[in-house]
Amino acid sequence: MSKSLRDSSNRIKIISLGNISVGKSCLIKRYCEKRFVSKYMATIGIDYGVTRLKIRDYDIRMNIFDFSGHPLFYEVRNEFYNDTQGVMLVFDVNNRKTFDSLDYWLNEMKKDIRPIQLFDQLCIVVVANKIDTNKRVVDESEARLWANVRGYQYFETSAQTGVGVQEMFDCLFSSIIDVIENGELKVPNIGFTIEQVEAINRLKNTKDNYERLGLKHNCTKDEINNAYRKLAKLLHPDKSVAPGSEEAFKLLLNAKTDLLNKFDK
Ligand code: GTP
Ligand code: MG
Repeated sequence: MSKSLRDSSNRIKIISLGNISVGKSCLIKRYCEKRFVSKYMATIGIDYGVTRLKIRDYDIRMNIFDFSGHPLFYEVRNEFYNDTQGVMLVFDVNNRKTFDSLDYWLNEMKKDIRPIQLFDQLCIVVVANKIDTNKRVVDESEARLWANVRGYQYFETSAQTGVGVQEMFDCLFSSIIDVIENGELKVPNIGFTIEQVEAINRLKNTKDNYERLGLKHNCTKDEINNAYRKLAKLLHPDKSVAPGSEEAFKLLLNAKTDLLNKFDK
């Protein structure tokens, strides 16, 4: 006999988010209909479908809301964030802008989802789609880190070949059931924080030593020492397991030495 979830209708709602043309509709089509359409047919507003599934002992009615990624349809999307339990947050590995937009999508959803507490209970999978091409510009390690540091699952997929699609949906559905059964979201512990990753990126990606330490050009010696101490505590390779800590720590040391030397000249 099948079991009932707390919501006895056994109804689950997931949505697809991401820029236009990243492959949201094709991923859903691949999963539900096992086929791929190469001609682009933009989603107008929102498409809706229901699929029935057996997950563990539950008979589930999975409601899939496939959103358009076009800014024009914001007014349509914002009505539909309510009561969402799972999110496919999709980008195209061949288009950097679609990866850089992931924060935009999280913010749009956070602004409009009701009840607001639902945001922290959402099961989110970050989906790196179109890995079948040879024009890739966003590499796996960067994207996986972006997802994991926020506590989200990460999958590499191709709606064209089907690679990773079933696994991604299985994981999304299964984590939603976990949340319903346990009452809370299990966030994978990766051993480092978003603060550490952001500090490492700032040290590595800027050439200006003041900026590396988060300081203005007219800062005092004390401010340099304080900023250094704070970052050193955060990134010391003996303590931090965030990827790139060692290199960032060396950059930090050099930046501090260079800035303090300017006072002695
Ligand atoms: P909107 O509905 O406008 O927000 O776009 P969408 O994210 O739903 O994109 P859609 O699924 O319609 O796919 C856009 C285009 O990308 C289509 O031409 C698809 O054939 C193509 N596409 C989707 N997934 C893949 C993939 O995995 N590999 C390749 N090579 N092309 C893909
Ligand atoms: Mg679409």
